[in-house]
Parts: sequence; C-alpha cells; structure tokens
Amino acid sequence: RSLQKNYFSCRRKVGSKSVATKVQTTTKTDECEAKDERKTFDTLQEERREQAERSVLISCPPKISEKKFLKHLSRHGNINNFFFYESFGIYAVVEFSEKDGIASLQEATSITSVSHEATVPFKTRLLSLKANESNSQPPVQCLQQTPIGVNKLVQKLSREDSIDQQSYSLMEEYQLTEENICLRFLVCSLLKDIAAAYFPECIIRPFGSSVNGFGKLGCDLDMFLDLDAISGRNIKQAGDGFSLEYQMKRTSSERAATQSILAVIGECVDQFAPGCAGVQKILNARCPLVRFAHQPSGFQCDLTANNRVAMKSSELLYLYGGLDGRVRPMVFTLRCWARVHGLTSTIPGAWLTNFSLTVMVIFFLQKRSPAILPTLDQLRHLADPRDKSVIEGNDCTFVRDFRRIPDQKNTETLENLLQEFFEFYGNFAFSRMSINIRKGKEQNKPEVSPLHIQNPFEPALNVSKNVNATQLERLVTLCQESAWLLQQGGARGRSPARDTPWGLAALLLPSVSQAIKTKGKKRRAREPASERIKTLLDSLKGSKAAPGGSAGAA
Ligand code: GTP
Ligand code: MG
Repeated sequence: RSLQKNYFSCRRKVGSKSVATKVQTTTKTDECEAKDERKTFDTLQEERREQAERSVLISCPPKISEKKFLKHLSRHGNINNFFFYESFGIYAVVEFSEKDGIASLQEATSITSVSHEATVPFKTRLLSLKANESNSQPPVQCLQQTPIGVNKLVQKLSREDSIDQQSYSLMEEYQLTEENICLRFLVCSLLKDIAAAYFPECIIRPFGSSVNGFGKLGCDLDMFLDLDAISGRNIKQAGDGFSLEYQMKRTSSERAATQSILAVIGECVDQFAPGCAGVQKILNARCPLVRFAHQPSGFQCDLTANNRVAMKSSELLYLYGGLDGRVRPMVFTLRCWARVHGLTSTIPGAWLTNFSLTVMVIFFLQKRSPAILPTLDQLRHLADPRDKSVIEGNDCTFVRDFRRIPDQKNTETLENLLQEFFEFYGNFAFSRMSINIRKGKEQNKPEVSPLHIQNPFEPALNVSKNVNATQLERLVTLCQESAWLLQQGGARGRSPARDTPWGLAALLLPSVSQAIKTKGKKRRAREPASERIKTLLDSLKGSKAAPGGSAGAA
C-alpha cells in the first residue's frame, strides 16, 4: 500500500553527489512528495532547464582523483552537484550554483592545436580534462545510464512476493534516474548554444518520454526547437500610432519555414557541434526532424521544430502519470511486455508505438468503475484561464495543477488491473470502435485503419494509423494469452524455489510469444483455445527449467 502512495515523485537517487554535503554518497532512497507538492510540468521543466544552463559536460581521463578534480573546478565557483558516468570513456556532469562559474571556467579553457588537423573554433560547454600527472587513483564511481537486461530483470522480478511488487520493481529498474534526466536537459542546453548562433533567444526543450514520466533508461531524446520567445507576440505597442515591424524573409508555409530552419541547424550541428555524429536531415517527414547521435551522452536525438502539440501530449501524459500511483508502474510494465514480445520496436513501421500503448492504458483506466483517471474533457472543465491553450486551431486546454483534480475512489491492485487490461483489449471490438481518451468512451470508428486511437489534441488524426492488421492481431492474441498466464501465475504466487519465473517475470519470457508465433498460430485452425493455452503453459514450464535462460534482450 505504501508503495502505491505518491509513487510518482519517488526517484531513484543512486550515488549522485552533492558538494554542499561534502562528497557524500546517497544510497538508494525514495524521496516521495505529497500530492500538494507535485510540481506542474512547466515549473519542473523550467527548473531543470535553468539547472542545465549552469552545467558543463567534461570528458575525463580514465584515472582521475575526484578530490583534485573538484578542487580544480571549484576555483571557478561553487559546485552544486556532480556525477560521473561511462560512455566510451569517463564523463562528468558538473552543475555550478551560478552561471558565472561556467563563464569563469570557459575563460580558463584553451583550444588545443592538433597537428595535421584543423579545428572549428566553436566553443561549447563540452570540455575535455587533461591531467599532467598520471596518478594511480581508484576509479571514480560511475552511474549506470542504461537499464539491466531482460534476463536480469526476470530474475529480479521472480524474487518478489507479489505481482504488484513486481510491477513497482520493474519501474524502479527501468525509469530514468534523476541524473539521466539532468544529462538529457544538459544535452538540450548544449545544442541550444549551437542553435543560438542563429536564433539567440531560442530554447531547446526535451519532450516525449524524457519528460512525460514514462521514460526508460536508454530511450531516445526527443527535442523541440522553441522559437516562440523570438516571435515577440506579447510586445505592447506604444499607442502613439506608430509601430515597428521586423522585415523577415517569407516562406510559402509554416512547414517550409520549419524545413529551412531545421536544414540550417542540422548543418550547423553536423559541421560544428562536437560529439554529434551521423546527422540525418529528415525534412520531408510529416513532422520534419534532424536525427543524430550525441556520442558523449550516448543519446539518439531527434530534433524537431514547430511541434507544440507533441509537447502538449507529453505534458498530458505527465499529468496522468502523476495522478495515481498505479499509472506509471502499469505503463512501464506494459511497455516492457510489448517490447519483449516485439509489439513495439525501435524501428519505425507497422508496430504499435509506446505513445499509442500509453494512450490505450489511460483509456482503460478511465473505463474502470470507479474510474482511476479522469477524461480529457473533465480535465478541460477543471482548467482555469491560465491553462488555456489553443494550438493550430485545436483546443489543447486542460488543468495543470494537481491540486485541482479530485482524488478517485478506486482501490484495485495492480495485479487486478493488469489482468483486466489484458482481458479488456483481448476482447475489444477493434473492428468497429475507436479509442477516445477525451470522452473516456469508445466511439464508432471514423475510418478503416485496423486500430483507431483518436489523437487527443487533433481529433481528426489517428495516432495508430501505422498499425496494420497483423500487428493488431498479435496484440489481441498476446493480450488473451497473457490474461490467462497472469491468472495462473497470480493465483500461484512466488514459487518456493526462488528465481523460478512467475507472475510478470513469466509474462516477459520470450517463450510466451514464441509459442504464440509457432505452435499457437499453426494449430489455431484446428485446436480449441484451451488446447493452445495448455501448449503455452507447457512451453512456459519448459523455460522454467533454466530460469531466465531464454530471455533475450529487449
Ligand atoms: P519512446 O518510445 O520511449 O521514445 O516514447 P515517446 O513517448 O518518446 O515516443 P516517441 O519518441 O515516438 O514520440 C515522442 C512524442 O511525440 C510522444 O511522447 C508524443 O508526445 C508525440 N507523438 C509520438 N507519436 C505521435 C503520434 O502519432 N501522434 C501525436 N499527436 N503525437 C505523437
Ligand atoms: Mg521518444
């Protein structure tokens, strides 16, 4: 019960060091905030953005004295926080308490001349530390920036005592750490320095799973080049009959403007930004973007512009994730389940996306009785004038302050919810009905796509238009089989032989989907469902002989 309470703001804080408390290592602690203290999306993003502006990323030699390193940097200002991580070498993220610290540090940083090569003298906050003396220091403690593999996860979950605990444990392992989120904001801030060469007042904001509360360690970094501060919409005119306007180059459409801005910024990132590699300008996509790898952080980055609706969707997901302690573990569990069984993929195609899957979970939780989550229309009615938001003619208004949303009365366990989720979608009338989180009710499908999930803010669009009939069929079959398997695992509880996969752990074994793909599919025409399920159960038992043995990477 206590695990469920206010889990939203619980963060794993492992080993991040605060200089103010004299290099003290924090071990795994949960810091929970009461609902009233939960920050709005905007407040939290702004705090993190400002923090990133006061931070630097430093590539360090393999053996470095932490003490000397800090002493060296402290000459430039007070250090609020720092941590080390490994990504093809050791890196340190260092946050100064004032921006002046960065200016002073950059003042003292030189440009190395490289023999046989020339450099582009573009100064950024990505630095390299050179140490004259080779000292034999013990290695610094590096924080993990990638999740554990599925094998280990299955083993860990098998040792938990309930399905609810398994779900929380999965989230605990997979969710972004505080430090990883800092690193994401820092990468955005570093790229802003590049884009600011053209647009000095621009902001690069992370969106998607980096900020919506459902991000898994290792997920991509979606970024949005925000030029609104430049447009000067809020400038008041003098009232003396005169006004001045900037002369600006005109383009045929917003899209053409976005494409030309991204083309130039993409080129700049490619030519001048240290650490950015494999830059691809994908300007003809529905949402034009620049894709690249940021090597020092290990993040795969997608930079977009003029993408306000996606930002608003991220904010909505953040709000839903923070409303009830069961939402995030449930989404993490289902995202993991979908990935392990190939329902989602990192490659674009006819697969379900994590975004669509999350909307499906929200819809399901709106349909519980009593409802666990409010509908988007209800959230709109709770909004005050400051929440008003209209993007490209679409009303994107919803309440943003957690305190204005009444608590709900539902007390179902996660085990029950997961079970019901699989049954709900295992029997959903996908052929006729559309999923609509604005109304919290299924509606007649307006078009023929196999899976129809109405875009919450652009009602004419289907967020799962890409999903084909085969993928939908796989989803339905997997839901049906998982409902059954969970019922078996849930009823049995943890096996006395620790490490034997049970409950969610058993659900994540690839043998489940393998059995569906091979045996299940071939026999479907001839066998009744009970036979297919028996086959599945047998295959599951087989896999238990070698715990986690066949669980591949997801
Ligand atoms: P990951 O798979 O962990 O990257 O999840 P994600 O939520 O970041 O998804 P993704 O990177 O595919 O997309 C980033 C964000 O763009 C999402 O969180 C949504 O806000 C938005 N988005 C993605 N797909 C759609 C879509 O089909 N329609 C709309 N309106 N927004 C989308
Ligand atoms: Mg993403």
